[in-house]
Amino acid sequence: MGHGDDGAGDGGSMAHVQLHTGGRMPVIGLGMWPGYSQEEKRQTGATVKAAVAAGYRHFDSASVYGNEKDIGLALQEIFLSGAVTRGDLWITSKLWNPDHDRVQEACDQTLQDLQLDYLDLYLIHWPVRVKEHYQQEDGTRKTEIVPLQLDETWKKMEQLVRTGRVRAIGVSNFSSKKIDHLLANATIVPAVNQVECHPVWQQKALHDYCTSKAIHLSGYSPLGNWGPKVLGHPIVREIADKLSKSPAQVALRWGIQMGHSVLPKSSNPDRLKENLDIFGWSIPDEDFQKLSGIQQERLIKGTMWVNDTSPYKRVEDLWDE
Ligand SMILES: NC(=O)c1ccc[n+]([C@@H]2O[C@H](COP(=O)([O-])OP(=O)(O)OC[C@H]3O[C@@H](n4cnc5c(N)ncnc54)[C@H](OP(=O)(O)O)[C@@H]3O)[C@@H](O)[C@H]2O)c1
Repeated sequence: MGHGDDGAGDGGSMAHVQLHTGGRMPVIGLGMWPGYSQEEKRQTGATVKAAVAAGYRHFDSASVYGNEKDIGLALQEIFLSGAVTRGDLWITSKLWNPDHDRVQEACDQTLQDLQLDYLDLYLIHWPVRVKEHYQQEDGTRKTEIVPLQLDETWKKMEQLVRTGRVRAIGVSNFSSKKIDHLLANATIVPAVNQVECHPVWQQKALHDYCTSKAIHLSGYSPLGNWGPKVLGHPIVREIADKLSKSPAQVALRWGIQMGHSVLPKSSNPDRLKENLDIFGWSIPDEDFQKLSGIQQERLIKGTMWVNDTSPYKRVEDLWDE
């Protein structure tokens, strides 16, 4: 996809990317992580309804976000109202770390919570496998990060496609080295690698690797993960002023012009609309070059999966850097 290309081509308000499975995924998906705020979590249903009314057709969910039941209730109301049908929507969810040994059960729980009979995309959330131990003495649960058994986990993910529970499978937070390992014994190539991606962490090498394997790169935290590093960046702001767009629109448009999909989170009705308004214009080449030159910094480091007893002793081990 060229730098000035929407990837649209369907004449609709929402452009799509075509995955190697043939599935057509809307390029903007609404991020469903409510952060650590209980208030945001309570807002989930209202946010889903406002988003569908605004034109969102893609939702990026995960069991660990803790709000799949609320999303499911909202979707039922939306379907009953006739506003959209299940076939109009793209729903992604993710396998959480303690569930690598019970993939089918975890997927079934998500389907039950979302009140759906299939998912469009199911991802391994992190290349992290966790065992939970029940402590008989004090009744608490202790977690232990154990080595990945990628071949076994992926075989169970492939089985979800064969049984019709999910239409496509993929990974998230995977390096090219981990994908190479997975591909060595895979029957189904991952359709997507969902990773942190925005002008401050552009993932150029991973982008090229994924493209060479027909894997679509989907960008999470495209606005900088609730912090100022992306939306407050002087180059992003300068280009936004010049183009009379907001910094968020420039950050999202950058992702689309790179050929990625973008997964911004908002629960604010005005910002939901603003974040969809990134078609019909483009970042000119000279400004795109300026964005390319931004000093790079990974914002989501995954330090929670790194410790002395984890297979990942250093952050670099997690990302294979
Ligand atoms: N696979 C993974 O491991 C992983 C990790 C992280 C995230 N994700 C996915 O990616 C999604 C998005 O990432 P994220 O939640 O880290 O954050 P993000 O989308 O980068 O940023 C969200 C923040 O930006 C604000 N915002 C939204 N639109 C704005 C606008 N137009 N102008 C100014 N501020 C705006 C939001 O506030 P308001 O709500 O008030 O607008 C919120 O504070 C998640 O929800 C999740 O679905 C996946």
